[in-house]
Amino acid sequence: MTEALSPKAIIVTGGAGFIGSNFVHWVVDNQPDVHVTVLDALTYAGNLENLAGIPEDRMSFLHGNICDAELVDELFAKTDAVVHFAAESHNDNSIADPTPFLKTNVEGTFTLLQAARKHDVRFHHISTDEVYGDLALDDPARFTEETPYHPSSPYSSTKASSDMLVRAWVRTYGVQATISNCSNNYGPRQHIEKFIPRQITNILSGIRPKLYGDGKNVRDWIHTEDHSSAVWEILTRGRIGETYLIGADGERNNINVLRAILAEMGKAEDDFDWVRDRPGHDRRYAIDSTKLRTELGWQPKHTDFAKGLAATIKWYEENRAWWESVKQQTEAKYAAQGQ
Ligand code: NAD
Ligand code: TYD
Repeated sequence: MTEALSPKAIIVTGGAGFIGSNFVHWVVDNQPDVHVTVLDALTYAGNLENLAGIPEDRMSFLHGNICDAELVDELFAKTDAVVHFAAESHNDNSIADPTPFLKTNVEGTFTLLQAARKHDVRFHHISTDEVYGDLALDDPARFTEETPYHPSSPYSSTKASSDMLVRAWVRTYGVQATISNCSNNYGPRQHIEKFIPRQITNILSGIRPKLYGDGKNVRDWIHTEDHSSAVWEILTRGRIGETYLIGADGERNNINVLRAILAEMGKAEDDFDWVRDRPGHDRRYAIDSTKLRTELGWQPKHTDFAKGLAATIKWYEENRAWWESVKQQTEAKYAAQGQ
């Protein structure tokens, strides 16, 4: 059994992005003795406003790249643990140009692992269920930690590559690492390129929502706050070298999610456009999180999807300044792709 970890100082890579910033807020709110250093390159997906309101004595922000070996080496010399969220995270972008995905997701993770190895730092790697490929709609199976890797997209193949690097660094160099593979997150501060916030902000902007393909693709939705609590359990009590799947039994197809958004926002159920499907579009993701629940006793709190969705819609309504300035360019990029 691995000894429990009580970190006083942690580094969070990608802490200015969607899930990373929600994790930083979760730590600040729930772990009063922990100081967080955020390392983030502030790409198009990073936003310092995501960290607004956090007291200065609880968090420091460092603008830097995870591929910068010298910087990473210096930082890792003075921390108890690292939680690695930084990534290029959007499938559609990876299809348009895979280059930054190779750089950040593969080379970036390699750079961090070399420093974790040198300084013997506890390392938690954040990954996705998309490394397992997809399941058929009528297949009763769900992904488990034993499911073979079978990634479909440039994004998921670079995430799979990074998971493999972590596993090899654990086995060969004895790096103190764990991995988690989580399902689709939703909640506040998600970039408006992603499915749920794109549709909400389309409606708020007078643009019709856009549904890919036949709309029957299934995603297993989890509230980002539940992802955060699971990551904390794994970081502090997980067994070194192990992988834990994170999911909250939230399977829903895209058309039903879109109809729930339309209904909540007072629109008719067919008030949307069908658009070109994503090439290689994964059909269904589904997570069996039995290992996490039985071994670490984790439970999700936000299991009422309608309630979580309504709160998310309210967040985008109340934070127009956060997204309005990037709406036009985000939609122009999609329009050029026929989506
Ligand atoms: P995001 O795109 O919202 O944020 C990524 C953050 O990483 C941004 O702040 C960006 O500035 C930063 N970043 C990118 N490249 C960097 C670099 N080279 N150096 C330093 N910082 C860099 O992503 P997200 O949706 O919050 O996803 C976070 C992590 O969770 C990713 O590893 C992703 O693969 C994983 N994940 C996401 C989901 C999901 O539903 N979004 C589900 C499971 C796992
Ligand atoms: P997305 O949020 O990009 O997450 P992922 O590709 O990691 O699952 O997309 C979620 C689902 O929604 C996916 O099946 C693609 C679909 N989708 C649409 O139908 N319309 C859209 O405008 C977007 C962005 C996604």
